[in-house]
Amino acid sequence: MNHIVVTGGCGFIGSNFIRLMLETYPELSITNIDSLTYAGNLANLADIQESKRYQFQKGDICDRPFVDSILGKGNVDAIVHFAAESHVDRSILDSTPFVTTNVNGTLTLLDSCRSHETPRYVQVSTDEVYGSLGDEGFFTEETPLAPNSPYSASKAAADMLVRSYVHTFDFPAVITRCSNNYGAYQFPEKLLPLFISNARNDQSLPVYGTGENVRDWIHVLDHCRGIDAALRQGKVGEVYNFGGRTEMTNIALTRLLLKLLDKPDSLIKYVTDRPGHDQRYAIDCAKAESELNWSPQISFEQGLQETIDWYISNEEWIKNIQSGDYMTYYDQQYGGRLA
Ligand code: NAD
Ligand code: DAU
Repeated sequence: MNHIVVTGGCGFIGSNFIRLMLETYPELSITNIDSLTYAGNLANLADIQESKRYQFQKGDICDRPFVDSILGKGNVDAIVHFAAESHVDRSILDSTPFVTTNVNGTLTLLDSCRSHETPRYVQVSTDEVYGSLGDEGFFTEETPLAPNSPYSASKAAADMLVRSYVHTFDFPAVITRCSNNYGAYQFPEKLLPLFISNARNDQSLPVYGTGENVRDWIHVLDHCRGIDAALRQGKVGEVYNFGGRTEMTNIALTRLLLKLLDKPDSLIKYVTDRPGHDQRYAIDCAKAESELNWSPQISFEQGLQETIDWYISNEEWIKNIQSGDYMTYYDQQYGGRLA
């Protein structure tokens, strides 16, 4: 594999993936297509922008002539599709961009790949398409799709389109579904970077509802290694789940963060719950372990400390974002920045 196209490479996971791939494969070159929405940030890849093996093309995955101009060059061995509207709270406030990018954008890519005979396609999806678990059990690749938010519904719709193209056109796709990622370069509307940033500034941490909702945390680089394994070894038409085997309630994670940052629990503020808030996500990743020889390598203890250290050493990165178009769901509900 010499040249791949990545969509959404200026976001959190895409930028980590591009950096990891360029480090891991000295012969590989990458074209990154990204429209630079509020979540896309050129600073995420500032360290590699001069690399001769990296090219950035600003553009929208819904723009077929633009996508054709990249995939039609004839040198593309694979496409790894990250670009999406990714934040559940925003999908509750306005679902339209989610359907536009996540559904129509994916369809545009599929059609362009078909007409240019792109040899390999990876759909980066999410465990949220499976819906919500009770206290017991895990999501497997056989779990029926039951998305609960407009975000997860749009991701499930995209997955169904990919599945239908495999079935109907022998389209060479695999789908990956991962649990909650954490690590460097995550947009600070998401729980971990938001809470680290707020705590550092002695601002409240808005915990939705009771804080008893459970997420399964995985380091972003473990997810990226899984996507790479699916890209190279995944069987066409198959789905691969990735998770970190690190289940935690939001309130336990919040208390742990405050302890590591040496800040008081009094910063915790319980706020109105997210509508339709999924109770629990937990991934069974046995298939990826046995078929892709993948397993998460980074312990939560080590990864969380390194992540905290990264946000502390990169406060300018967050400040530059916060001066732009940035509002959390909580801000939107209650007006203004959190006190
Ligand atoms: P992100 O919001 O940080 O980044 C999304 C990127 O896509 C941004 O750079 C944005 O500019 C770009 N983009 C959005 N719309 C576009 C369009 N129409 N055309 C071109 N570029 C566009 O998202 P993320 O957290 O890095 O997630 C990446 C992918 O991984 C998404 O598909 C998401 O559903 C999936 N995923 C995320 C997680 C997680 O925990 N963050 C877990 C599982 C799966
Ligand atoms: O599971 C994978 C998914 O993880 C990805 O598909 C999504 O793109 C990604 O955003 C993430 O979704 P979540 O909704 O789980 O992540 P978020 O960081 O928004 O919230 C994590 C949990 O914390 C969730 O239960 C809601 C809660 N929360 C979140 C925020 C932002 C709070 O209690 N307060 C907050 O301010």
